[in-house]
Amino acid sequence: MSTQHCTLQVELGDRSYPIHIGPGLLARGDLIARHLPQPKAFIVCNDTVAPLYMQTLRNALVQAGVQSEPVILPDGEDHKDWRTLAEIYDALLSRHAERKTALIALGGGVIGDITGFAAATYQRGAPFVQIPTTLLAQVDSSVGGKTAINHPLGKNMIGAFYQPLLVLADTDTLKTLPARELSAGIAEVIKYGLIGDAPFFEWLEHNVERLLAGDADALTYAIEQSCRNKARVVAADEREQGVRAHLNFGHTFGHAIEAGLGFGVWLHGEAVAAGMAIAVRVSRRMGLVDDHLVERTLALLARARLPVLGPGLGAGRYLQLMGHDKKVEAGRTRYVLLRGLGEAFVTADVSQETLHLVLEGEGVDAG
Ligand code: NAD
Ligand code: GLY
Repeated sequence: MSTQHCTLQVELGDRSYPIHIGPGLLARGDLIARHLPQPKAFIVCNDTVAPLYMQTLRNALVQAGVQSEPVILPDGEDHKDWRTLAEIYDALLSRHAERKTALIALGGGVIGDITGFAAATYQRGAPFVQIPTTLLAQVDSSVGGKTAINHPLGKNMIGAFYQPLLVLADTDTLKTLPARELSAGIAEVIKYGLIGDAPFFEWLEHNVERLLAGDADALTYAIEQSCRNKARVVAADEREQGVRAHLNFGHTFGHAIEAGLGFGVWLHGEAVAAGMAIAVRVSRRMGLVDDHLVERTLALLARARLPVLGPGLGAGRYLQLMGHDKKVEAGRTRYVLLRGLGEAFVTADVSQETLHLVLEGEGVDAG
């Protein structure tokens, strides 16, 4: 068992919690047990991740004195819906989960988001633990307490802010992650550099191939630096009244891509990558950033094997889908744009002409 791990803290007063990052952490039932109000938990997972990691986690919990029961869901973004949510409630109620019985999410962002929403709502709030097993979930979705399911009309439209008791990111789990999923996670890593951490962006320019190759030191550094950025933003603005919206850079366009193509056709990280590529082009058309930053962004995304063009849905369809974005205020879609590397801001003042030029032209795949 490795003891070499780093611990960061999300500072939220009496709801503050640790993020443990490192190898071998799935075996550290003790790190989980100390946070649970009763020695019982339900582990929510899917049929891809459960055969890989469920038993290791259950054994570790038994060693720490915690009894657990598995809840296995179908895999996929297209199952992040109310039907699958109801499967969790059915399992909890039929197997007599109590209000103080913890729900542990073991999996990627889909499992984390749906389990978190189940925890937020089961008996008005059950204890919740995040054990992310994808890069995307380790750098982003497991931290910060956004929980949700999708609606056919929009991504993550039904949900709640509900913080976990802890996040346990075992970097060894990334060894079984398919290459395409690793790239999808790198999209959210690149996002932190673009919106607020220029030195980290530069580090990524030097190290992205190490991440793709699964280099443990590089991945651990990228996860720690991403979580540091995210924890700082969440502590400053838990409920997205201001700066937290910057974490949605690329997501307004990305969510439109996901909903427009059908959930699961493009991976979330792929849609975010294309969304960020669209957002930097919009920023350039508005005279906010120069060609050099656009070229650097597109080059880094491409090196991470991510798309730099959105699908040609048509500008009208993009605008219609973005009308459901959670940042819409008084009927106006608000966009996260850049005014430089590491300098994100939010504005509704983007002309229809600019959006049409990018979404019908340079920002999308015409073929
Ligand atoms: P995912 O949960 O669908 O996982 C990707 C795939 O990898 C799945 O097939 C999964 O079964 C598999 N998998 C997971 N861990 C594995 C492992 N260790 N080895 C092998 N296979 C493994 O996708 P994701 O990219 O992790 O998460 C995307 C979701 O996260 C989206 O629904 C998105 O909306 C959400 N999200 C939420 C937040 C938030 O703040 N709550 C932030 C970003 C994204
Ligand atoms: N992933 C966006 C957020 O957590 O706010």
